[in-house]
Amino acid sequence: MNNIKACIFDLDGVIVDTAIYHYKAWRRLANSLGFDFTEQQNEQLKGVSRVRSLQLILGWGGITKTEAEQEQLATQKNTWYVEMINQMTPAEILPGAREFVQSCRDAGIKTALGSASKNSMTILEKLQIVHLFDAIIDGNKVTKAKPDPEVFLKGAEALGIEPQYCVVFEDAIAGVEAAKAGGMKAIGIGDPKVLYEADLVVSGLKEMTLDKL
Ligand code: G6P
Ligand code: MG
Repeated sequence: MNNIKACIFDLDGVIVDTAIYHYKAWRRLANSLGFDFTEQQNEQLKGVSRVRSLQLILGWGGITKTEAEQEQLATQKNTWYVEMINQMTPAEILPGAREFVQSCRDAGIKTALGSASKNSMTILEKLQIVHLFDAIIDGNKVTKAKPDPEVFLKGAEALGIEPQYCVVFEDAIAGVEAAKAGGMKAIGIGDPKVLYEADLVVSGLKEMTLDKL
C-alpha cells in the first residue's frame, strides 16, 4: 500500500463508539412501538443510514408505517440520540484514534472524515477534534449511502487527492465495499472474518502505525 497521500476515516466505530447510543435510541423507539430487538440485530445497522435503519427495525417488528410516519419516527429517534451525544466528552475518543490521525498530519498525509451520520459535526465538536480533519464529508453532503463510494470520493476530491492514493478506515462491511468501489485502499477496524474484503484489518487505530500504510 505505498504512495498513500490521504487517510479518510469513518466516524462511528472508528474514531468513537457511538453504536451504543444509536442502539439505545433505536431500542427506545422499538419499545415504544411494542417490540424489542437484539444486540446482534443491531450489528446490521452499523454504517447504515438513518432511514434504512428504521426500515430494517420496523421489518423486525413486523410493522408497516407510511412515509410521513417513518419520518416522524426517525426524527424522534434522532432527538433521543442527540440528547445522548450532547453529553459526550473527549474521553470517549477510541484508544489511539487521536494519536494516529495526528501522526498522519505530522507526516504530511491529508486527513478527511467520511461518515454517513448527519450528526458528525456535533460529535467532532464534543470530542474537540474538528481541527484534525482537512475535510469533513458527512450525511448532510451525500445523497447515496455506503456501499456507494460517494462519501469517500467527495472526501478525496475535497482533499485534491486521487482515489488510488487514498486509504479508508472502516468498521462496516458496507464502508469497506464503498472504499473498494471508489478505487481506494481499505483498512478494516474489527474482525478480519467479517471485513475480509479489506486490504488489512486491525482491531483499532491503537494498532495502526504509518509504516502499515
Ligand atoms: C453511521 C452509523 C449508523 C447511523 C448512520 C446515520 O453510519 O454507523 O448507525 O445510522 O451513521 O447516522 P445519523 O446520526 O445521521 O442518524
Ligand atoms: Mg462505522
